[in-house]
Amino acid sequence: MSEPAIKYRLIKKEKHTGARLGEIITPHGTFPTPIFMPVGTQATVKAMSPEELDELGADIILSNTYHLWLRPGENLVREAGGLHKFMNWHKGILTDSGGFQVFSLAELRNITEEGVHFKNHLNGHQMFLSPEKAIHIENALGADIMMSFDECPPFFESYDYIKKSVERTSRWAERGLKAHQNPETQALFGIVQGGGHKDLRQQSARDLVAMDFPGYSIGGLSVGESKAEMNHVLDFTTPLLPENKPRYLMGVGSPDALIDGVIRGVDMFDCVLPTRIARNGTCMTSHGRLVVKNAQYEHDFSPIDDQCDCYACRNYTRAYVRHLLKVNETMGIRLTSYHNLYFLTHLMQRIRQAILDDNLLEFREDFFDQYGLNVQ
Ligand code: GUN
Ligand code: ZN
Repeated sequence: MSEPAIKYRLIKKEKHTGARLGEIITPHGTFPTPIFMPVGTQATVKAMSPEELDELGADIILSNTYHLWLRPGENLVREAGGLHKFMNWHKGILTDSGGFQVFSLAELRNITEEGVHFKNHLNGHQMFLSPEKAIHIENALGADIMMSFDECPPFFESYDYIKKSVERTSRWAERGLKAHQNPETQALFGIVQGGGHKDLRQQSARDLVAMDFPGYSIGGLSVGESKAEMNHVLDFTTPLLPENKPRYLMGVGSPDALIDGVIRGVDMFDCVLPTRIARNGTCMTSHGRLVVKNAQYEHDFSPIDDQCDCYACRNYTRAYVRHLLKVNETMGIRLTSYHNLYFLTHLMQRIRQAILDDNLLEFREDFFDQYGLNVQ
């Protein structure tokens, strides 16, 4: 057996919750976990330069197979020397497989055992994505961590459908594993599905764990179910996964869900939320969400968040950021994006410290109190 591309090291478990402090060693550096990964769908985290991402504390970003396959095409990225060189980001990169995007963006899908036929969302051309094809593209992109090609069914699909889907996702994972060309430089994760059903999550995890992936993702969540339902699924899903491998909860990035995910044993998260809301003028702050674009901030010469020491908060006022957003100046969304990503990166640092100090539940209570969320 060859050495896997990444190594996970569990450093400590929090005394009261079992939350995990660890680190992941990749070909592009070592980063601490739990971690939040900013999303750079089109080989750029919208409005952020790699230097800014580095400065605000990002260690690994996510990019998308589906989008890069359509434009500029995986061959161009390969010709550039891979995604790291192409976009000048030399820390970690993770690629999603396109499974989720085909289901959320494309129209007129037809799912078969072989793969998914669909019309692409740009020009309506008929396309086909399979487990082998997705892995082939991910190999060309060259990310440190890649995702298996999975199906992410709606949370409230019928039990029978989700069962069939889980079984197919397991067969697709096996086919992807066989097609993977670079296991020594790129770690392929399996994705646990199963909706809200404990026995289907068990079946999915059992299948995938038997294939011995270097890490496991938890998919099919944050797709319209409540926070309580998501936490319930995590409660019975993370214990199904090996202790010595990283667990990645896909598509989750609200501050409360990050804290509650870590408490349930999750190590990695990604979400478009911080950058997406930044572009419509919303900031995450220690006191909850702040719509800096609102009229009430016209004369407000305080920073976005009085407890934040990011570049945006150290140098600019709400009144100025609001002005930039109102007149559609690019600098406005650069500042809100920078701040939001810093906020989540810094939140993860505080969570890791709370694991070290064995006071994660107190941290949760204080954070939720200030953020304006019900503690329960
Ligand atoms: N992103 C968010 N959820 C999912 C999922 O279930 N599968 C994949 N591939 N990506 C996701
Ligand atoms: Zn800030």
